[in-house]
Amino acid sequence: MKHLIPEFDRLRKRYPEGAESSLVLPCLRRIQEDRGWVADSDIAELAAYIPVPRIQIEEVLAHYTQYRREPIGRWHLQVCHNLSCSMRGAEGALGHLCKRLGIEPGQTTDDGRYTLTTVECLGSCGTAPVVMVNEAYHENMNPAKIDALLQELAK
Ligand code: FES
Repeated sequence: MKHLIPEFDRLRKRYPEGAESSLVLPCLRRIQEDRGWVADSDIAELAAYIPVPRIQIEEVLAHYTQYRREPIGRWHLQVCHNLSCSMRGAEGALGHLCKRLGIEPGQTTDDGRYTLTTVECLGSCGTAPVVMVNEAYHENMNPAKIDALLQELAK
């Protein structure tokens, strides 16, 4: 994380004095962009940098599902299984993904390419069911579109 300190210093200038705890979210996001996940050592170093109590960073990490605490696959497929998506076929899409990838939600393929998880509403209910792959939304998903998506990701 230490190599990100110059970026954090620039970020810090955007916040008024006394509001340093607001740096937790953007710093964690940058750490995750850099490594792909947030390690225990990152938490300790960030708590010392800002400074905030370590528990405050742990709480943020526990609350937001976007943050990862362990390495995941190259492609992170997040299937929304909240109400709108469920009503429009999310369970079928999830089942199809499980079958195609040979894993269950929460698992990563042996080759390290794909991690499959379920998430609550992704905020795109009008185009349900939705599958998020890394930062990109894939909407109105069905088995045929999932097959096409997996074909693209395999390239
Ligand atoms: S319920 Fe799936 S995006 Fe809202």
